[in-house]
This record gives sequence, structure tokens and C-alpha cells, in this order.
Amino acid sequence: MLVSAKEMLTKAKQGKYAVGQFNINNLEWTKAILQTAQENNSPVILGVSEGAGKYMCGYNTVVGMVNGMLETLKITVPVALHLDHGSYEGAYAAMDAGFSSVMFDGSHYPIDENIEKTKQIIKDASAKGVSVEAEVGAIGGEEDGVVGGGEVADPQECKMIADLGVTMLAAGIGNIHGKYPENWKGLNFDVLAKIQELTGEMPLVLHGGTGIPEDMIKKAISLGVSKINVNTECQLSFAAATRAYIEACKDLSGKGFDPRKLLNPGFEAIKKTVKEKMELFGSIGKA
Ligand code: 13P
Repeated sequence: MLVSAKEMLTKAKQGKYAVGQFNINNLEWTKAILQTAQENNSPVILGVSEGAGKYMCGYNTVVGMVNGMLETLKITVPVALHLDHGSYEGAYAAMDAGFSSVMFDGSHYPIDENIEKTKQIIKDASAKGVSVEAEVGAIGGEEDGVVGGGEVADPQECKMIADLGVTMLAAGIGNIHGKYPENWKGLNFDVLAKIQELTGEMPLVLHGGTGIPEDMIKKAISLGVSKINVNTECQLSFAAATRAYIEACKDLSGKGFDPRKLLNPGFEAIKKTVKEKMELFGSIGKA
């Protein structure tokens, strides 16, 4: 059964580790992530952007697929199904379909409007036991059409949003979706420390997990980050493994063109990436 992200993140914050949010795109992605979580006894969050939701034929299809897998694969570790960077309307549509967690990305609204909309979503989500993530500042780069300027969050605004009763809070601290540029200045730990000081027990979320050096990940966790989002890295591993299969002409040999064979190296590559991240985040054995 899907669970909200609240309990797993509260435990992670107390235990000083982070739970990975891995974004899904299709059946192979979902199965790879769920199996890796189960094999490593780790809690996990499946992230679905609005674009990926559309690609997978809507939130009802996603919920049906994930619930089916939880049963058939006998998944017993805590799994949350989370809308990533949801719009106001998107958050309601995902909740109605059965998502157990939603992000309302109101970072592009003026702060007053972000607060009003966040309050309403929290009220309706809590009635359903659904966890809510809010964002302050903006994650740089682009993900599925959601573009962020990369503004560093104002710790006072973070406190204001945290006090509304969100479950977890994403703050822009110089992180970027996608690959990091050569001249990237790194995460702003002074701002992160300040946010943690003002928001106390609130689990903090680090977006743009792809390509952040290990020492920065560990430092961020020590400063209160309990959820880390990874998307691009699984896409890169999947693409590289698929490319190697085709370049080795394996699709031309025997039944190598069978999609169940053709997509298998990519599937295994996602599993490897997810396991490495779970090790780095410290969530293995924490289910
Ligand atoms: P990356 O694609 O950079 O890993 O970011 C993922 C993310 O933050 C999803 O919201």
C-alpha cells in the first residue's frame, strides 16, 4: 500500500540520512526502482512530474501501475507516490487519482499567493493523509518544461511556509535540475544552515540530485536534508546502457530486438544507479 512521505522523512531527519525520490517514466523505471528499494530494505519515493504523468497516460494509469506492482512484486518497504513540481490544479488531480504525496511548486507566485494556495492544499491533503512538499526560492535549470531561475531561498520565507504545516520543504540553495555546468559554485551551505536553524524538525528537500559531489550530499544531509531528488542520472544510465547494447549490434542477433531484451540493460543500469544513491544517502536497511 502506498504511504505518505511523512513518517519515512521524519525518521530520516532523526536518523540523519535521506530518502531518495527517483522520478519514473514508464514500467521499466518503476519496476527497477521498486525492486531496488525492496532488495535493499530502503524506503523510497517515486517522483512523477506533470509531463511524465501525461506521458504515462495520466495519473490514474500511474496509480494503477504502481499499486499493481506493489502487490505483484510483494513490496513491503514504505513507498510514497509523489507529484513532482505540481501546479495547483495538478496537485488536486494527483490526489484525486490516489497519489500519496504531492509537491505544490508555488515558487513562481508572489509569496502571499504561494502562501494562500499552499494553505488550501495542506488543508485538503491532510484530510486525505497525503503529504505536501512546498518550494521556496527556485531550483535552477529546466525539468519537463518547469524552468527555474535558481534564486537562493530566503530563510525567513522558508520559515513562513514551514509554519503553514507542510510536510517537507524544498529550498533553492544553488541546486540545478540536470547536469551542473563546469563553473557551478556549489551548494550554499550558509543558507541551508540558516534554513535548518529556523525550520527545526522540518525535513528539507534537495532537488537536482544528479551530479552533486558526494561530500556536498553528505554535508547537506548533516544540515537537515532528508529527501533528495534524482531524475537525470537514471536517464543517463538508461541511455548509456541502451546505446551500448545497440552499438554492440545485440538487437541484430537472435531475438535481441525483443523489447524485453532490448530494454533490459537500461533497466539493470537504473537499478545500479538507484542502489548507489541509496548507499550514499544512507537509506539502506532503514525500511
Ligand atoms: P535531477 O534531474 O537534476 O536529478 O533533478 C531531479 C529533481 O530535482 C526532480 O524534481
